[in-house]
Amino acid sequence: MPQITITYDPRGTYLPEHGLEPSALAKLGPQLIAARDDVLADAQLWADGVEPALNKRPLDAGFHHLPERLLAEYQTKGHESEVGRIIATANRLSAVVDRAVLLGIGGSYMGARALLESCCHPYYNEVSRDARDNRPRISFEGNNVDNDALAGLCDLLPTAIAPGDVSNRWAIVVISKSGGTLETAAAFRILLARLRDSLAGNLAQLPELVVPVTGDSGKLFDLATALGCREIFPVPDGVGGRFSVLSAVGLLPAAIMGLDIVQLLEGAVAMNEHFRQAAVGKNVVLDYTGICHLLETQRGCNIRLLSTWGKRLEAFGLWYDQLLSESLGKRERGAVPITVVNTRDLHSRGQQHQEGKRDKLITNIIVERGNSTPLAIGKSELNQDGLNELAEKTIPQVLAAATAGTNQAYRDDNRPTANLRVPAINEFVMGQLFQMFMLATVLEGRLIAINPYGQPGVEAYKKNMNAILRETASDGV
Ligand code: PA5
Repeated sequence: MPQITITYDPRGTYLPEHGLEPSALAKLGPQLIAARDDVLADAQLWADGVEPALNKRPLDAGFHHLPERLLAEYQTKGHESEVGRIIATANRLSAVVDRAVLLGIGGSYMGARALLESCCHPYYNEVSRDARDNRPRISFEGNNVDNDALAGLCDLLPTAIAPGDVSNRWAIVVISKSGGTLETAAAFRILLARLRDSLAGNLAQLPELVVPVTGDSGKLFDLATALGCREIFPVPDGVGGRFSVLSAVGLLPAAIMGLDIVQLLEGAVAMNEHFRQAAVGKNVVLDYTGICHLLETQRGCNIRLLSTWGKRLEAFGLWYDQLLSESLGKRERGAVPITVVNTRDLHSRGQQHQEGKRDKLITNIIVERGNSTPLAIGKSELNQDGLNELAEKTIPQVLAAATAGTNQAYRDDNRPTANLRVPAINEFVMGQLFQMFMLATVLEGRLIAINPYGQPGVEAYKKNMNAILRETASDGV
């Protein structure tokens, strides 16, 4: 069984003023263990198909053991399993198209974007097809209502596709659990019409170039069936949108990008095992949740800054922003998540973090080793910038100095920080991170008696928007 490679160090929160006593986490231990038991029992209840008690509904605990289930099925059924079919479809698409347009919003979008930004080339769409390992470019749409953005994408999509010319061909992956989300559905209709037109006489290809990921009923399912789509991938029952990154919702896009989805799932399995076994003080999920909870309840730190050092994890942070906001932002409670990218944001938000209100806990995600050769600043005869004395220093060394210097400045002013360290960014680590933050979110929900599942507050705007649109609809349909 692979071990987790993430570590969590909360010592920067143990401060003489405005911080915690070093013994605080251990004192919270029994409550954290009780909440963990609750989360484990939820997963079991869900697996056994037992109807949950009223105060636990909805209970979308299906995400918890989804990685184990998918891997077990892959081991026994190979290419006929869901993972096997995802890999085959991703390979098929990669061989015939040079752009995959991924349509989806919220939980049907943010995980795939986090995977692209964390694990792929930083300029993925701009490097050659060879450098992309013959994988298609990725474009995200249907995640907003933005005419200029959608029209801008249309400008990039060839309108006449010569058969066999991969460089001009594109496909649509449309992801919506409910199948009825207007942002995604409207973009899908517009782009489907465009794809159909671009195929001219070859309409038989359309069902090959549209791959839906959706529930097993609903408008998108019906539309995909009517189109005769070759594959329709499921969003399993009992897996909520923002908990679905390790289902086909995130796995199909990841496989299209050429990522190793088995490693992603194995990272999540390792985190599940660690969550279940490790004691308070050594358990990254229990400790992270405990420290966040203690600082919020004892020190009023209801703003949680996830501070990523370098750009690769920004979209992961945005994925977590959604996860925490939609899961715990209920009944006038729930901490406010904010993702910052440093050093970039030290030049925009840094002043407030250093001297603003004492309502923030900063969790750094520190990546110990980048994926590329360190670049040195280098000597130059044009030394007007005075950088020759730092000529030997590399960009990772500059980043490490910035991280240490920033943490020290916060500590000097009794501003709590914690460090989450990962050895490098790869699929195994991303699987751990996704699962860690999903588990931490449901754990905290159980700790503070807020149901982390469901998002009743999101329905209000949808209802109003649809009513307004239908009042003014010209054809009355
Ligand atoms: O977490 C959630 O359930 C939401 O953020 C959904 O993912 C989002 O609203 C998109 O829904 P759907 O996948 O049904 O289109």
